[in-house]
Amino acid sequence: MIITVDGPAAAGKGTLSLQLAKKYGLAYFDTGMVYRAVGLLMLLNDRDLGDVAKAEEEAGNLSFVKMMELSSNPEFRSSKGGQAASIVSSYPGVRAKLLDMQKNFAKNPVFADGSRANGVIYDGRDTGTVICPQADVKFFVTATPEVRAKRRYDEFVAKGMDAKYEDVLVDVKARDDRDTNRKDSPMKPADDAIILDTTDMGIEDVYNKVVLIIDEKMAKAG
Ligand code: C5P
Repeated sequence: MIITVDGPAAAGKGTLSLQLAKKYGLAYFDTGMVYRAVGLLMLLNDRDLGDVAKAEEEAGNLSFVKMMELSSNPEFRSSKGGQAASIVSSYPGVRAKLLDMQKNFAKNPVFADGSRANGVIYDGRDTGTVICPQADVKFFVTATPEVRAKRRYDEFVAKGMDAKYEDVLVDVKARDDRDTNRKDSPMKPADDAIILDTTDMGIEDVYNKVVLIIDEKMAKAG
């Protein structure tokens, strides 16, 4: 089974995807990681984020193992890391170089310990449209920028990170702007995606609703 969960920054896609991966015994691919890895490599190697050729070079050299290694760097999940990811992800050449790694995961999905899984949950922006248009169930999860910023702020605080709500909101809006208002924006729901506005929903409500939808689809598919 392949499920895609797309939507804007801090919409709760990660939490939902991990819960679903656990429930249905599926591997998980957070596709934002490929762009975060390239963004972080640019920062670590003192590259100008506007240097498209260098960003493409880093993307071309990125392996799955290297991406996992980079993910333990504290900057990987920081606001700075998110902005860097958002900038490099706007380069078509970077996206093209990272396409195979993302697509191939569905052919050979593995858990974190390397054991084989029977399917995958993709989490990102374009996983239902570009990475895996053949997915069995597609979701597009969204909420207002204010609610998403509050959720991300709470996450930072829970991790003991220094954060201000106002700064997180500015960051969320800047990323929305960059992710949406550009030619060939990756952030649009697939025609067959189920759109979930979670502004007034708790994590548990979202999870219960999504599980109902998936179970119904699976029952219909036999
Ligand atoms: O989801 P996350 O916040 O980790 O993604 C980091 C950045 O990577 C996003 O702001 C977005 O610009 C980019 N991204 C993308 N396509 C994806 C996943 C993430 O362009 N499938």
